[in-house]
Amino acid sequence: MKKNPIDLHHKTILVTGSPGFIGANLVLRLLNEMDGGTVISFDNMNDYYDPKLKEYRLSLIEKKAASSKAGHMFVKGSIGDKALVDQVFAEYQPDIVVNLAAQAGVRYSIDHPDVYIESNIVGFYNILEACRHSYDNGARGVEHLVYASSSSVYGGNRKVPFSTDDMVDHPVSLYAATKKSNELLAHAYSKLYNIPSTGLRFFTVYGPAGRPDMFYFSATQRLVKGEPISIFNYGNCKRDFTYVDDIVEGVLRVMRGAPGKAAGEDGLPIPPYAVYNIGGGTPENLLDYIQTLQEALVRAGVLPEDYDFDAHKKLVPMQPGDVPVTFADSRGLEEDYGFKPSIGIREGLQKFAQWYKEYYFDPI
Ligand SMILES: NC(=O)c1ccc[n+]([C@@H]2O[C@H](COP(=O)([O-])OP(=O)(O)OC[C@H]3O[C@@H](n4cnc5c(N)ncnc54)[C@H](O)[C@@H]3O)[C@@H](O)[C@H]2O)c1
Repeated sequence: MKKNPIDLHHKTILVTGSPGFIGANLVLRLLNEMDGGTVISFDNMNDYYDPKLKEYRLSLIEKKAASSKAGHMFVKGSIGDKALVDQVFAEYQPDIVVNLAAQAGVRYSIDHPDVYIESNIVGFYNILEACRHSYDNGARGVEHLVYASSSSVYGGNRKVPFSTDDMVDHPVSLYAATKKSNELLAHAYSKLYNIPSTGLRFFTVYGPAGRPDMFYFSATQRLVKGEPISIFNYGNCKRDFTYVDDIVEGVLRVMRGAPGKAAGEDGLPIPPYAVYNIGGGTPENLLDYIQTLQEALVRAGVLPEDYDFDAHKKLVPMQPGDVPVTFADSRGLEEDYGFKPSIGIREGLQKFAQWYKEYYFDPI
């Protein structure tokens, strides 16, 4: 698909869900590279996991902003609050919007469905409405809306690797259903109001200062406390793990190329809409991933060399909402943006383990 190049320098970029895990890493890269302009982080700092981690990431952003040529603002609030979203758009008039704010997690959606509807459906709708009205009265408005979807939209699909051409009409969790809904809503808004939008289906993202609800992080915390770790589906799981730097590189490249606008034969817009997978492309067996994590934790000095890992592993059945395999076909991203994730789990988990050691054992 033809892309409209966007120069990010001197732009106003709104990143919702920063200082969340991926959002904070994206904002740090932007502040490092932009030659001017403003980055706005917008997050409600909820306590789904320890908010101290979000404050820590925000402190890194503020430190980086102090030496950046671009400015940084932080707005604390919910994208579910329409008046606030409209106010942020009116005040800052973002050129590019990256919507990463969402209630993440598959298992949590089973006991806490309300927050998924509020953040992922109502919140995303508020962002779309604000993008739509950004063009009012001939204003230049939003040049590109990039938003997080998820590999979970593939549900229990058996055909691998997962391709964006595959049918994704059978989500197996509310979380997945909200992410698929985002893609549908974005398509309708792109068609109706010519909003250039790109959805990115992220595949299991990990890295330093990541999310404590994700396996590598929670397993590390349990092992450090000497508690057993549960290995779901008796270890018969494969995940396409993606290191956060690869995700950030992919998001940045996508931000710089918006789907081109064109009119169809009926004179109405052909929706400037696209969806891509971003995944490592080499699914790892869960047991191999755990082995690599253990080695990294020992090398980093988080766990002693003689730690009895086998005594701390519990093989358990599959959890509701989980899927046995994820495997990204990221060829679309490679063809349209010339990028393919390349950081392997040995390197990525080592970086996580080193960060974990510094953050929890040797805080400055
Ligand atoms: N990490 C992954 O493996 C992964 C995989 C697929 C998709 N995603 C998606 O990527 C995005 C970022 O994920 P992450 O891993 O950085 O998660 P994260 O939880 O660290 O970041 C999300 C941020 O959004 C904020 N937030 C939640 N609801 C909000 C609301 N209503 N208003 C404002 N802020 C709100 C949270 O406080 C959090 O800081 C999410 O949309 C997630 O669904 C992540």
